[in-house]
Amino acid sequence: MNFTGRVQFRRLLCLIVRQNFNSECENAINKQIHLELKSSYDYLAMASHFDRCDVALPGLYGFFKAASAEEHEHAAKFMEYMNKRGGTVLLEELPAPQFKFTTPKAALEEALNMEKTVNESLLALHALASKHNDPQLCDFLETQFLTEQVDAQKQLADYIRQIERCEKELGVHIFDNDIKGSKIH
Ligand SMILES: [Fe+2]
Repeated sequence: MNFTGRVQFRRLLCLIVRQNFNSECENAINKQIHLELKSSYDYLAMASHFDRCDVALPGLYGFFKAASAEEHEHAAKFMEYMNKRGGTVLLEELPAPQFKFTTPKAALEEALNMEKTVNESLLALHALASKHNDPQLCDFLETQFLTEQVDAQKQLADYIRQIERCEKELGVHIFDNDIKGSKIH
């Protein structure tokens, strides 16, 4: 039996659990898994860049390393979900990370663009789940991914603005850090 035959055979075995799970949603989840793994791989490459001795920015290294682990976890969550719904996970080859950034700010901008691409894909998947009347998939996306995605994008946008301020108004940044968490008496 060839690879396609084996996949079809495994799909037949999973029919026992499968209910109201459209194959278009299944294919879109496989694409999402690929995108999450690609993001994880890209973040790992970014982390490694900031750990180089000629760059030496441990904060950004830690931030991107954690982002890589987070994306990996997202992919794993989708893989588990796929099995729960009786679908078949099909992994693809990952392309090598290709970055153009030369500054921390440009790296954060690339990260924000990456997150926006992931979010667009999640929203398209949600629209597909609605089209196929799959409220459980909609709920999974809403509770596990969509809010977190918006939060991540806000965090990156904030960092971009803060790094811009450090370039021009370092005093304002230091003052703001000093009063973080304080209350008026
Ligand atoms: Fe993600």
